[in-house]
Amino acid sequence: MNGIFIALEGPDGSGKSTIMKKIVEYLEANGIEFIGTREPGGTKIGENIRGIILDEENKHMAAETEALLYAASRSQHIYEKILPALNRGKVVICERFILSSLAYQGIARGLGVDQVRSINDFAIKGIRPHLTLFFDVDPEKTLERKVGKKRGDRLEQEGVDFHKKVYNGYKELLKGYTDAIKVIDATQDIGSVFNQCIYHIENVLKYKED
Ligand code: TMP
Repeated sequence: MNGIFIALEGPDGSGKSTIMKKIVEYLEANGIEFIGTREPGGTKIGENIRGIILDEENKHMAAETEALLYAASRSQHIYEKILPALNRGKVVICERFILSSLAYQGIARGLGVDQVRSINDFAIKGIRPHLTLFFDVDPEKTLERKVGKKRGDRLEQEGVDFHKKVYNGYKELLKGYTDAIKVIDATQDIGSVFNQCIYHIENVLKYKED
C-alpha cells in the first residue's frame, strides 16, 4: 500500500463539499492520480446504505443501528474502493471517515467512543487516513448556512443541541490525536480555507515522494 489517504472532517455545513471540489480540481491540474469519494456512500452498496440512514422517514432508527450502518458502509468502501486505490499508489480523498462516527454516534448519540471505535476497527481493518483535515466552525453558523437553504436530511434535521454535541465531541477527540489531524479555520473565506488545506496536502504528498 503506497497511496495516501486524506479525510475531510467537520460538522454539517462546514464547507467540506465546496472545498472538496476545489481540491479535486487542484489534483487534476497537477496530474496527481487520485480518487475522490465520500461517506456514508462511495460504493453502490454504500450509497444504498446512505439512503436508509438519511431517509427522514427513518426517525425511529435505533442509535446502534445507525452506528452499524455507517460502519457497514465504511467496510464496503474500504474493501471495494479505498484499499484497491491505495494499493495502486493513488491519493484517496474522502469526505468524512471514522472520526465522524466517533463524534456523531460515539459522543452526540451517547453510544460511547470505545464502543463505536470497536465496531469500526472491525470494519476498517487497520486502514486509517495519513492526514485528516478538520473543518473548524461553530455549528450555529453551519446550520444557518445549510438548513436555511433546504429542509435537510434526517441528521441535518437534528436540533442545534445535537450539532453542538457533535462539534464539542470533535474538539474532545482532537485533544487525544497527534499530528495526523490538522485543524482548518473554516470561518474564513473559501480561498483561504482552500489554501490552508493545500498547505497540509502538499506536505503529506511531499512525504510520499521522499
Ligand atoms: P454528509 O452530509 O457530510 O454527506 O454526511 C451525512 C450525515 O451523516 C452528516 O450529518 C454526518 C453524518 N455521519 C455520521 O453521523 N456518522 C458517520 O460516520 C458519517 C460518515 C456521517
